[in-house]
Amino acid sequence: MSERDRGAAEGRAPRVLLAVCGGIAAYKACEVLRGLQKAGCEVRVTMTADAERFVGAATFEALSGAPVADDLYGYPGTPIPHVELGGWADLALVVPATANVMAKLAAGIADDCLTTTLLACACPVLVAPGMNVHMWRAAATQANVATLRARGTLLVGPDSGRLACGDVGEGKLAPVGEIVAAALELIGDLTRPKDLAGAHLLVNAGPTHEAIDPVRYIANRSTGKMGFAIAAAALARGAEVWLVAGPVSLPTPFGARRLNVTSAEDMRGVCLSLFGHVDAAICSAAVADYTPARPADHKLKKSRERLDAIELTETADILAELCALKGDRVVAGFAAETDELLAHAREKLERKGADLIVANDVSRPESTFGADTNRVALVSAAGTEQLETMPLPQVADAVLDAVRDLLRERGRL
Ligand code: CTP
Repeated sequence: MSERDRGAAEGRAPRVLLAVCGGIAAYKACEVLRGLQKAGCEVRVTMTADAERFVGAATFEALSGAPVADDLYGYPGTPIPHVELGGWADLALVVPATANVMAKLAAGIADDCLTTTLLACACPVLVAPGMNVHMWRAAATQANVATLRARGTLLVGPDSGRLACGDVGEGKLAPVGEIVAAALELIGDLTRPKDLAGAHLLVNAGPTHEAIDPVRYIANRSTGKMGFAIAAAALARGAEVWLVAGPVSLPTPFGARRLNVTSAEDMRGVCLSLFGHVDAAICSAAVADYTPARPADHKLKKSRERLDAIELTETADILAELCALKGDRVVAGFAAETDELLAHAREKLERKGADLIVANDVSRPESTFGADTNRVALVSAAGTEQLETMPLPQVADAVLDAVRDLLRERGRL
């Protein structure tokens, strides 16, 4: 258990490092600070020199009751404020995040107290961008946002509306209440009981793409949301998570070790090589059942090579292969069905040798591909439990409760 988790588990106040950058919305960081304090958080502040042109450090010192870290040299009590504050924080919150600071975060540049402290943070980072619409839309900013998201940095906002400069568009700092709520949600994850601490999980998620030629592929409607929610919930509950992701555009849950794959065969290879390192595998991926038998190595030209039919060959069943190897490890699969849900799910449980099948009826709008809710039944040797329609994070927790119980039965937790 990390120092941070231990502190959170002991019930001390959650610690937020508020990083204030030089933008007109810097004054709203004062209200964010107050909102966090009202919710019981301890807040420390680091600021850039530009931020101090908008709001004085004295304001944040008075509000937080602690010195503001705006210089790497001369901070009271420690010669290394960046390491001290980076290790102290449960969450770093950047308000407003300017295009410049986001670029530095993406590049790992640490050329002042704020960016050096953020680089030294081992905790999740939540970024609330606030800038001019053209700066937000700039290709460089968008590339930096994508880099940060892929690394597990979370963003709240920006909103659209009339900006301080008079332009109208995206770039407006998210409302204070929304920023505080997003921060508290992340802190809630940090303070959750770590009932999966010590467990190593493999989660696969998303669709696979099966190449017809270098341009075309066969895919399915999976978005990966369910598997990513399972990975995020497992991390919040203390598990170590390997996330094997098919082609999806979802941010990496903080702390997940993510491996991106494209085809069913790629996914199989990565899952098999990781399986020896885990206690449980949760196979939520919609792996293609068939793949083109002879993908072309060049783009097929319709004038010369007709594509009236594609010869397909069956892919290997990753879930069944993991089940055959599992020993006392726990393996859970999913069954996406449109009819006779429970009968098909139980048949899959037995045929593949899984410990648990999470069955969902994808013909229902609340449990179809891309939905933010799911209605599942948990099918195992112990019986069938039909759950209500719930938001994906709650479904993820229900699946993990079942996996946790199985791990305990096997003595792996
Ligand atoms: N699965 C897998 N490898 C495959 C196909 C499926 O690991 N090549 C896994 C999925 O990740 C899921 C489970 O098997 O956990 C069930 O997937 P599903 O598509 O519902 O079932 P199929 O085995 O493909 O059976 P059917 O097409 O008859 O429904």
